[in-house]
This record gives sequence, structure tokens and C-alpha cells, in this order.
Amino acid sequence: MAGMGASMKRLTKLCLTESNKMIVAIILAMLSFTISIVPYYMVYKVLVELTKVNPQLDQIINYALIAMVAIIIKITFFAAATSMSHRAAFEILYKLRVQIAEKLLTLPLGYFAKKDLGATKKTINEDVEKLELYIAHNVPEIIGALTLPIVTTIFLFFMDWRMALVTIAIIPLIFIFYSLTFKGSNILIPKYQRLLLKMNTAIIEYTNGMQVIKAFALTASSYKKLSDACLEYGRFEADWGRATFKYFNVVTVLISSGVVLIFPVGMFFYLTGTLALEMFILFLLIGLGYSQPLMKIMQFMSMLDLLAKGEQEIHQLLSEKSLVEPEISQNPVDYTIEFINVDFAYEKQQILNQVSFTAKQNEITALVGPSGAGKTTVAKLIPRFWDAGAGEIKIGGVNIKNIATVKLMAMISLVFQDVFLFNVSIKDNIRFGKAGASDEEIIAAAQAAQCHDFIMQLPNGYATVAGQRGTKLSGGEKQRIAIARAILKDAPVIIFDEATSAADPKNEDKIQTAISKLVKNKTVIVIAHNLSTIVDVNKIILIENGQIAQHGQHPELLAASGTYKNMWETHVRSKELNLTGGGVNV
Ligand SMILES: Nc1ncnc2c1ncn2[C@@H]1O[C@H](COP(=O)(O)OP(=O)(O)OP(=O)(O)O)[C@@H](O)[C@H]1O
Ligand SMILES: [Mg+2]
Repeated sequence: MAGMGASMKRLTKLCLTESNKMIVAIILAMLSFTISIVPYYMVYKVLVELTKVNPQLDQIINYALIAMVAIIIKITFFAAATSMSHRAAFEILYKLRVQIAEKLLTLPLGYFAKKDLGATKKTINEDVEKLELYIAHNVPEIIGALTLPIVTTIFLFFMDWRMALVTIAIIPLIFIFYSLTFKGSNILIPKYQRLLLKMNTAIIEYTNGMQVIKAFALTASSYKKLSDACLEYGRFEADWGRATFKYFNVVTVLISSGVVLIFPVGMFFYLTGTLALEMFILFLLIGLGYSQPLMKIMQFMSMLDLLAKGEQEIHQLLSEKSLVEPEISQNPVDYTIEFINVDFAYEKQQILNQVSFTAKQNEITALVGPSGAGKTTVAKLIPRFWDAGAGEIKIGGVNIKNIATVKLMAMISLVFQDVFLFNVSIKDNIRFGKAGASDEEIIAAAQAAQCHDFIMQLPNGYATVAGQRGTKLSGGEKQRIAIARAILKDAPVIIFDEATSAADPKNEDKIQTAISKLVKNKTVIVIAHNLSTIVDVNKIILIENGQIAQHGQHPELLAASGTYKNMWETHVRSKELNLTGGGVNV
């Protein structure tokens, strides 16, 4: 897998931030596995003693005691090693989580709008947790699995070099068959990943799009797409499994068949008188488990892929571009907003082109234009959801990059097209506008925002839980709650992005009344979809294809022939149609 090396390097570096604990854990694990050879040696000594003409019982008891002590030490050391690595893992994971949390604080708000928050949550929870397994468990176990064969091999050569050679003869065979399990994986792994992605996409599309699928009776065709993807994935996995499993089975057999060689060769040496019986038994005993640690290493290797993927998610999150905070935050002289030759692109595609305008304090500036022209984008650049690619945005003569984000946020109240409500009571949802606001203040804000009446009609009034898991509110109702929040915040700059869907004239009226309470003596930027609401504003800016096409007041823009005039005429026609054509909403 691509980037595995880099991932492992970063993981090692991460472990080294707790180097003392990790080194102690590694040394303890190594000692534990080195000591595990002692009981075997003691069995050998007992056998030697037993084959003597006059075996000494107290000697035998001594050997047995030494073996027992060695086993206790081995277990204790390994337990200590794991406990140490757990403590290291705890510290490392804690530091990593703090690092991620701090990173999230510095990310531009746009990151959260763009990115699927489920994925970020998964990174913080699951991917970090996966590392716990690696640091706390795998490190001591793998160190052990590597130490044991080395120590055993040295010991065996020390005992009888010919038999040692026979014991290790199986290792190259194991490696050859193990490497065969990877045959063709450079082609198979990308194919596997492609099929997996195809299947996952089909599943997501199927579940997310269920409403559309049902509404348009697409059940059969989209179900077929999903089942085909699952089938294709399943077949490939089975074929791949069959192809590699035959080699893997050989590996498994080889790992436990060290004695197959040791037995005949040892027997030959024994019969020809060059190998003592006790030595023969020792090799048989050790030969049984000699290659077992390799299994552990192989299991670990197959897990690495998953581990590296998790690590890469964390790395990607930590490498996201942070918002740069000014060293010294400057104070604006007033709250006039200026855009000076602003360019912006979300990714590669240029969205805003040389946008320049001024929205004066105590005035209402309306942004209008076709859907997708870039109005919301302009609005989101002011609270630094993203930073402009080129040009400058100023508030009261100060570039917004030179105002601390906390201060900048405190200056601006935002009401967006798609209002987000938290899974808390409506009262607390409004209270987000001003921490510690009293109930009276909240109710006053709700009354001004024209939402008091409908809130009172809800089953639990202000205590009703809103948001995803709570009461479902209409788009217009949600926007009024957001306006109440903004009224409570009482910030000097108001950015209001009118909901495109709130077409009901009654609701529209209420929102207008609410807005008029919100905007007094402030810098107001309103993105209007209903042109009737902006005929009296101080300035209208028409955005088309990310550029300012026209600007001025309503009468001026009407007088000039251009897009605004056309939009107005269409708007008037649609209104007339509403009234004369039966008026669904009157
Ligand atoms: N988070 C994003 N990532 C990438 N592209 C985006 C993102 N948000 C908007 N866009 C694109 O930028 C362009 C301008 O979008 P924007 O939301 O500013 O339009 P708008 O004028 O507010 O439209 P509407 O009237 O429908 O609300 C569109 O082409 C849109 O697809
Ligand atoms: Mg918009």
C-alpha cells in the first residue's frame, strides 16, 4: 500500500515521544523472551542428570526450581512490558487527541462545512484508538516474536551446531511460500480497492438516495447496481482468497513441522553415537515451537495495512491548512465592510473574480444574482470560513486577517440558508447567541424574530428539543430561530442569507419583520432571492458568474437595461402568476 513506509516512520516517531517508557517496555519484552529459553535448558540438565549412573535428586529439584523461577520472571517481565507500553500508549494517544482538538480549533470554518463530519469523528475516535492496539499490544509482542527466534538460534548453535542448522533449515522454505502469497498483489490490491470503493459508493448512494429512489420508482435499477457491486466484490475476494490460501496453508503446515527434519537427522546422529539422547530430546522439544513466533509476525504484517490507513487519516487531518492568526489583533475604526479585488476558488475552479464593493455601516447592502453565482461564497469569506485567494477584505479599514478570529466572530451575526440546530432545547439553541442570556432575554429575542408564537405551540414550548433527533421544524421556522439567535447576539455586522425555499408569503412577511428588528444601526449584508424585499435597500450588488455585473439602487438598476431588469421582470411575472393563478399561498 502506498505511503506505508511513511506511515510507519511517523508511527515510530510518535512512539518516541514517550521514548523512556517505550524503551523500558522493549527491554522488558526482550528480557522476558530471552529468559523463556531457561526452562528448556533446565529440562536438558534434568535429562543429563537422569542419564547419569547416580542421578542426584536435589540437583533435579534445583533445576526444576530454576525453571519455575524463570517462568515466573518471564511472565512478570512480559506483564511489566505490556503495562509500560499501555502507559506509553495512554500518554501518546492523549497527546494525539489534544493535538487533533487544537488543530480543529485552528481550522477555517469552511473545513467543517465541506468535510463529512462523520469522517472527522471516525478519525478522532476509531483511527486514534487503532493506534492503541499497535503501541500497547503489538510493540511488545512483535519485539518478543523477533527476539525469541534469535535467542533460540544462538542457544541452539551453542548446544550443537549441526542440529541447529537442521532446525533453522525450515525458515527459508517458510519465507519462500509466504512471499508467494503476495504473488500478483501489485495488480490485485488496486483492483480490490477499486471494487471495495465501488461497493461502498453503491451502498451509500442506495441508502442516502432512498427517498428519491422510492419517489421515482428506481428501486429495481438501483438495487441491481448495488447487488452487482456486492457480487463482483464477493467473487473477486473469494478468487483471490483461493489463489493465496493454498500458499498460506503450506506456510501454516511448515511452521509447525520443524520436527519433521529434526527427527530423522537427530535419530541418525544418535544412532551413530554423535548425539546424546538428552540433546536429541532438547532439539525435539524446541523444534516444536521454534517457528511459531513467525506466525505472530505474519499476522502483524497483515494488520499493518489497516493501521497505516488509520494513521494516514490522522496525518491528513493534522496537515490541513490552519487559519493564520494575527500576532497582534487590530481594532477596526467602524464596521464598514470592503472587498478589494477578491478572487476565490474552493479547489481549482475559480468561483469569485475581482470582486470589489463596499457595504457601509448603518446601510443594507443586498447581494442578488442567479443560483450558483457566488453570493453565499462572498458572505462566507467575511467571517473567514475560507481565506480569499487574492485581494483583501476589510472591516473598518483593517484586513480581516489582522483581527483575531474570536474578535471577528464576535462582530458578526450569521443567518445562513441552511440553519443548523443543535440537539438541545429551542431555548438553548437561541442562547448560543449570547452565553448566559436570561430566559426573558431569550423570549424577547424570539418575539422580535416572530418565532415566539410557534414555539409556544410546540409540545414542550421552549424546552422542546430541536435538531436532528428532535422536533422537525420547517425551513422558515428554523431561519427565524437563527434570527432570534442573531438578535440576542446583537453584533454590529449582520450577514443574512435568505432561504431559497421559504416561498410561503406569510413566512416571508414574518422573516422580513424579524429582519427589520435585527438590522437597525448595523452593517447589513443580505442575500435576497425575493427581489420585492430589497427595493428600498441602500445598495444592490448583482453577482453573475462570480463577478459584479451591476450595482446601484433599485430604480437605477431598473432604468438600465441589464440582468437586474430581466430578473425583476421575471420576478414580477411570477408574483402575478401566483396571485391570478389561484394563489396557492394567499
Ligand atoms: N464548499 C464548496 N466546495 C466546492 N464548491 C462549492 C462549495 N460551495 C459552493 N460551491 C460552488 O461555488 C459556486 C457558488 O456557490 P454559492 O453557494 O456561492 O452560490 P449562490 O450564489 O449562493 O447560489 P444560491 O442562490 O443557489 O444559494 C457554485 O458553483 C457551487 O457549486
Ligand atoms: Mg447561496
